[in-house]
Amino acid sequence: MWIFKVGVVGAGAMGGGIAQVVTFSGLPVVVKDIAPSQLEAARKHVEGIYQSRVDKGKMTHGQMQEKLALIEYTLSYDSFTDVDIVIEAVPEVMKVKQQVFRELDEVCPPDTIFASNTSALSITEMGAATKRPHKVIGMHFFNPAHVMKLVEIIPGAQTDQDTIDTVQQFAQDLRKIPVVVKECPGFLVNRLLMPYLNEAVLAVEEGAATAQQVDEAMGRNGFGWPMGPFFLMDMLGIDVCAHVGEYLYSHYGDRVKPARLFYKLVEAKRFGEKTGAGFYIYSATDAEPLEAIIQRMQQAGEVQTGTRFSVDRLIMPFLNEAALCVQEGIANVNDIDMACIAGIGMQVNKGGELVRMGPLEYMDEMGLDVVVEKLEALEKELGPRFHPVDILYQKVRAGELGKKTKRGFKEYTV
Ligand SMILES: NC(=O)c1ccc[n+]([C@@H]2O[C@H](COP(=O)([O-])OP(=O)(O)OC[C@H]3O[C@@H](n4cnc5c(N)ncnc54)[C@H](O)[C@@H]3O)[C@@H](O)[C@H]2O)c1
Repeated sequence: MWIFKVGVVGAGAMGGGIAQVVTFSGLPVVVKDIAPSQLEAARKHVEGIYQSRVDKGKMTHGQMQEKLALIEYTLSYDSFTDVDIVIEAVPEVMKVKQQVFRELDEVCPPDTIFASNTSALSITEMGAATKRPHKVIGMHFFNPAHVMKLVEIIPGAQTDQDTIDTVQQFAQDLRKIPVVVKECPGFLVNRLLMPYLNEAVLAVEEGAATAQQVDEAMGRNGFGWPMGPFFLMDMLGIDVCAHVGEYLYSHYGDRVKPARLFYKLVEAKRFGEKTGAGFYIYSATDAEPLEAIIQRMQQAGEVQTGTRFSVDRLIMPFLNEAALCVQEGIANVNDIDMACIAGIGMQVNKGGELVRMGPLEYMDEMGLDVVVEKLEALEKELGPRFHPVDILYQKVRAGELGKKTKRGFKEYTV
């Protein structure tokens, strides 16, 4: 099936960016919201993205006007009668998303694809609220949508192959990198990221290191990530991280039990950059220093103390979860690595040179026997959340240790 016209529902942080991406590929898009102010904000956001291209000499003013003319902003569904795909980007609440899809069911042609930009909710559950579950699929863009290359494509239990193929092609036409992910809480990238971010918060609330020290150790001059975990969480929103953390905890249990400090910051409405303070203090200069909050938690005996920080402590849970995703067939090996490179900019600092590398290749390079040893040592020191997943033991027993044996998660010829 071909996509000639696109609908976007929800003109918030994501919807506006997605509309820009669609028009940039030359397709018309109709953007619907329930709040005129949101439509106005989305219009400004899209114009801002194009204007910066004009300012950089990447397009002419005339070309920008042509792109902007492809967008219709609306409060009604009148222009949804001939769209081939709708991408919903309304708030992360199942009932709201299901209601939007029910409304769309009444106005869109029967073969219109319904895609959801949900970060974690069940696609199957959304599909069940429609008369077309075979046409419902996850299409998870990353923020900011016009910059981030990765799109996770998540088929629900009823989604048909034609819908998967069409959406994969559509994502490529948008100049994105689609990765098909089996439905599971957090999908792929958020599922991998959360144990890493959570461990960073545990290390800091336990007094093993300060947020600055952790960010330095994990960032470009340390491990190699584009930014440290605390800068990242302040940018993503601590409320959003806590919400995703809770959701993953409810499904995956103790290995991702959210650190208490998340709740403390959420209670204090310290959501990160957007509220002027989070782990770091920005514009809210009267905010209590993080160290004081942590000290009180420690004195009240709310958190464990006396643990150690190391780069491994943060990276190993991320790697272990990536191995588990292979074991569970959440995505194929190359796609998992690609998703981490394109979705979170994973790179590794090799003697001062930043090399793009996903978690599976990184483990292959380290040696899967070494990965198991490190996880077992951390398990002894910090608890069962570090227990190595079965596939690691299986590979080690089979002598598939990674690059040194030419076979690990991947195969190597040299
Ligand atoms: N913000 C991110 O970093 C990010 C990244 C990836 C995915 N997502 C996902 O994208 C979705 C949207 O997130 P967001 O951050 O853009 O949210 P947002 O709150 O910024 O925007 C949501 C928009 O939906 C509108 N809306 C609410 N109910 C509606 C309805 N019934 N019909 C039409 N519009 C309605 C709101 O007015 C608002 O403009 C969520 O599912 C979120 O999990 C967000």
